[in-house]
Amino acid sequence: MNESTRRIVVLGSTGSIGVQTLDVVRRLAGRVEVLGLAAHRNAEALAAQAKAFGVRNVCIADPAAVGDLKRFLGDWRCHVTAGMSGLNEIAALSEADTVVVAVAGAIGIAPTHSAIAAGKQIALASKEVLVAAGGHTMALARKHGVSIVPIDSEHSALFQCLTGSPVESVSQLILTASGGPFRNTPFDAMARITPDQALRHPTWNMGGLVTINSATLMNKGLEIIEAHWLFGVPERDIEVVVHPQSIVHSLVRFRDGSILAQLGLPDMRLPIQYALMYPERIDTDLPKLDLTECGDLVFEKPDPGRFPALRLAREAMEIGGTMPAVMNAANEAAVARFLERGLSFTGIMEAVESVMRAHRPVEPSLGNVLEADAWARERVRNL
Ligand SMILES: NC(=O)c1ccc[n+]([C@@H]2O[C@H](COP(=O)([O-])OP(=O)(O)OC[C@H]3O[C@@H](n4cnc5c(N)ncnc54)[C@H](OP(=O)(O)O)[C@@H]3O)[C@@H](O)[C@H]2O)c1
Repeated sequence: MNESTRRIVVLGSTGSIGVQTLDVVRRLAGRVEVLGLAAHRNAEALAAQAKAFGVRNVCIADPAAVGDLKRFLGDWRCHVTAGMSGLNEIAALSEADTVVVAVAGAIGIAPTHSAIAAGKQIALASKEVLVAAGGHTMALARKHGVSIVPIDSEHSALFQCLTGSPVESVSQLILTASGGPFRNTPFDAMARITPDQALRHPTWNMGGLVTINSATLMNKGLEIIEAHWLFGVPERDIEVVVHPQSIVHSLVRFRDGSILAQLGLPDMRLPIQYALMYPERIDTDLPKLDLTECGDLVFEKPDPGRFPALRLAREAMEIGGTMPAVMNAANEAAVARFLERGLSFTGIMEAVESVMRAHRPVEPSLGNVLEADAWARERVRNL
């Protein structure tokens, strides 16, 4: 191992982003060493990853899965932890310099804070951390001199376009959205969309929650809030354009009218590699974009009538306090109910809106955020 080897912990290693992170590690051949892995309850995959990458620290968030994990680890010697305390412990692992946060949902907030307090650089996929607790998280990162490098492809694009430019020179951040599979579906057909249809994304291959969030455009709503906290740009200066080819990952318009964009194939491994190696840029064997083959690039305005998620997200941000956390939690719970066929596709946003209307926001301390999150989930379950 040479001096610039990165030593990482991956939270959510068995998920879509986690697995792709380990694929990038493999391709970076010796530049990145994995010291810790964490998952929720997929003990078999977690144990297989630990053995494949020579990892000696693993955490399984669900304590009921510890027995299975130990059985799958067999004679592989490993420090095993469980539960929230285990996640917080592995996120602060002393030998690691970078923590990849790729767990699904607001569960990532506490371990991210634990990693920041321990001085780790954060490679952040879990947008919910910033949506629900953006102010607190960014303040903590500033206090500990830690950089948060986004993995989300749009924010990675913005991060790259903004390098070297002060925030005062920015006039607008422009987030691109694929528009999901229902970009052209008539409004009156949307209530009949099934989970199977919604889980088929036209350009990206992602976990279940993220795929449904792409179909409702809630993903973009969450990304507006994420971009606000990451880059310090007010919500009114963050635009969304639908770009079905998912080649231009986002753009920055500067005060002088110039626009910078970042382009690449729709492949999460590129922003993952950027975040792992930041600020270095490394050549690997990942497929590269051929400009002569990507065809026409189209940009359209999103239809607010069919996709109320953008309006709700902007409203949640404007209200502030615990409202974004409530919106996010209500959305996660509503998506889960949709996948169980307990809500229609359009019912997801109706549920989110009704829970937001019932919430009285308070100051977003970590305790209040977690309480509001639990309240919103319960409310959706009882709808
Ligand atoms: N997928 C993408 O292309 C993409 C792109 C941009 C941003 N993101 C963001 O990245 C995050 C992860 O997305 P994903 O698509 O990778 O999700 P995913 O495929 O559903 O994977 C989620 C991962 O988190 C773990 N996890 C779930 N609940 C947990 C808990 N309570 N405690 C600890 N670990 C838990 C899961 O473990 P088990 O396997 O054991 O359940 C799994 O490893 C999300 O915030 C998403 O918005 C994803």
